[in-house]
Amino acid sequence: MHKILVTGGLGFIGSHTVVELQNEGFEVVIIDDLSNSTLDVLDKITAITNVKPSFFKIDLKDKTAVTNFFNENTIDGVIHFAASKAVGESVEKPLRYYENNIGSLIYLLQQMNAKNVNNFIFSSSCTVYGQADELPITENAPIKPAESPYGNTKQIGEEIIKDTTKISELKAIALRYFNPIGAHESAKIGELPIGVPQNLIPFVTQTAAGLRNELSVFGSDYPTPDGTAIRDYIHVVDLAKAHIIAMQRLLKNNQKKSFEVFNIGTGKGNSVLEVIQSFEKVTGQKLNYKFTDRREGDITAAYADTTIANNELGWKAKLTLEDALLSAWKWQKTL
Ligand code: WQD
Repeated sequence: MHKILVTGGLGFIGSHTVVELQNEGFEVVIIDDLSNSTLDVLDKITAITNVKPSFFKIDLKDKTAVTNFFNENTIDGVIHFAASKAVGESVEKPLRYYENNIGSLIYLLQQMNAKNVNNFIFSSSCTVYGQADELPITENAPIKPAESPYGNTKQIGEEIIKDTTKISELKAIALRYFNPIGAHESAKIGELPIGVPQNLIPFVTQTAAGLRNELSVFGSDYPTPDGTAIRDYIHVVDLAKAHIIAMQRLLKNNQKKSFEVFNIGTGKGNSVLEVIQSFEKVTGQKLNYKFTDRREGDITAAYADTTIANNELGWKAKLTLEDALLSAWKWQKTL
């Protein structure tokens, strides 16, 4: 049984990935600093899979703690989610983002090299493309100057990993996520935004639940069919499964290059208005919303060309926008 370290494994995407790893029979060890997650997620994962992952509360910026962990644990592969991920906050606190997201990555890779742990999956983001010139977006689309320090840490992170694969036995896959949404069908785990949600779906479900007065639709004058911005919303369970398939690719040495990149999206774009209409349809909940100005830094449209992920990785999104919205609503009602 392979033992996989999942950093940030108590977070939104991390916890869903731990569930799918355990479903596939992997032994999982989680490192999380609990800065953007809560310990009860460990019990929820256990309740879903009847297997309790081992857990270490470690801040990956603590080089000694990372070294001690790798001295005491034999790991076959690492899936690295742990990072700060609020776009707006990164603009206000760039140094915190560079220190956390880049510093942690470096200490992790140093220890992996030192202990000959050579299978690495990196949580990247379609944000590296900025506003792509062509849609759908392929992995060959040019990397645009980052719109935020958060996005920059993903671009720099990919470069650091690529350079490390050139001088070591490290094999790595960067998964560029589009917009992860939804929750596990059990409604035991899901997105737990702290404070006012920055992302669309948690704000939608909190508005529908009466926790927020109304949703502000950021911009209705985009050059899109209905004037609102378009994104590729992917169910977090489909996204989690992509990580297992990517890790198995490395464990079996099926990778074509030591550093590979895959777009993980549905390949379909939906506007904010379409999301609202779909939410109202599948939940029967009327949503209170108004149109406001565009949000600084937002792009008009992004959705994935998933040909390479489908053909090369052998992964394809199966769940629909409606599945994801319904699961998000079911999850919200448990909070
Ligand atoms: C989606 C759409 C908003 C909130 C970001 C990061 C990306 C990833 C996902 C971390 C946009 C609109 C939103 C609201 C709105 N994060 N919106 N009202 O900005 O596409 O992507 O989150 O990995 O890296 O860039 O996601 O959910 O914030 O916004 O109208 O209250 O919903 O303008 O068009 P985004 P989002």
